Amino acid sequence: AFTPRVFSGIKPSGGLQLGNYLGAIKRFVGMQGEMETVYCVVDLHAITVWQDPAELASATREVAAGYLAAGLDPTKSILFNQSQVSAHAELGWIFNCVARVGWMNRMTQFKDKAGANAEKVSLGLYAYPSLMAADILLYHATHVPVGEDQKQHVELTRDIAAKFNHDYKQDFFPITEPVTEGPATRIMNLRDGTKKMSKSGESDMERINMTDKAEVIAKKFKKAKTDPEPLPETVEGLAGRPEARNLVDIYAALNDTTPEAVIAEYAGAGWGRFKPALADLAVAKLSPIADEMARLMDDPAEIDRVLADGSARAREIANPILQKTYDIVGL
Ligand code: ADP
Ligand code: NA
Repeated sequence: AFTPRVFSGIKPSGGLQLGNYLGAIKRFVGMQGEMETVYCVVDLHAITVWQDPAELASATREVAAGYLAAGLDPTKSILFNQSQVSAHAELGWIFNCVARVGWMNRMTQFKDKAGANAEKVSLGLYAYPSLMAADILLYHATHVPVGEDQKQHVELTRDIAAKFNHDYKQDFFPITEPVTEGPATRIMNLRDGTKKMSKSGESDMERINMTDKAEVIAKKFKKAKTDPEPLPETVEGLAGRPEARNLVDIYAALNDTTPEAVIAEYAGAGWGRFKPALADLAVAKLSPIADEMARLMDDPAEIDRVLADGSARAREIANPILQKTYDIVGL
């Protein structure tokens, strides 16, 4: 049996958005104290697409600041950045030799990101789910809180662990559970209820950034695409209304409640009433975090110190597991 341990990460590839907060950071913070928690800024994943070096360094600090400002306590969790623990890349290589090309070909996120351009994207973008498996299994993590978009990659992680255990006749890696629950596991963008909100979405108007000012948040929700109908009398009435469903989910997640409770409060309300209430709620929840992020970003050396300390603690777990993996493989 494996000791319960949580691992998860966020890519420093642009500013943090509301989906990262509700689908990831807020839930990560909520798991502190329940189990051992290890949270990462996955900078090696960011460079699967070219990043300006100075912007990458700053985005790494910004993700760390986002975690800390939202309540991640570095005395309760390990907070570090991936490139500082070289065992991630080393185990990633071993897993490249365990994972099958056919498995990678089935990754829908790769197909979405590469699109018609699959011959021109980096080899790293294609192999990234195998490095993600290494991130998780290097800590023998039993639980990975992620948004829906990452569920297939956690399933691949399970396949890699099972194949490694089988090929080397060991019960060495745990079969990790994805944790996707609550209304926030798939926040959609504000222009198109069928595409997830993302840091790298085309237009800034389609996402709420964690650092957006109050007026900007209000404007984005005001302009968010919806159908003309008022809110339904019951949640079942949200079926087939993706934009309405999304705004209700966002409200529920921000307010630590359920879509049912939101509908109970706003049954039959028009958008002219609901959208300003949603904007006020988002501002109330996000602006203290944004203020704290700005304060932290004023002292980059302090963020670097927190990450260096976390990296040292991460290595204490990761290096023995990598050494044992080398022994098992015969390296
Ligand atoms: P992005 O897609 O914005 O680049 P990452 O790939 O770094 O974000 O994902 C970091 C975490 O945030 C993952 O757990 C991912 O599932 C979660 N996440 C990202 N976007 C959303 C979203 N729109 N809704 C819910 N969770 C999300
Ligand atoms: Na993502």
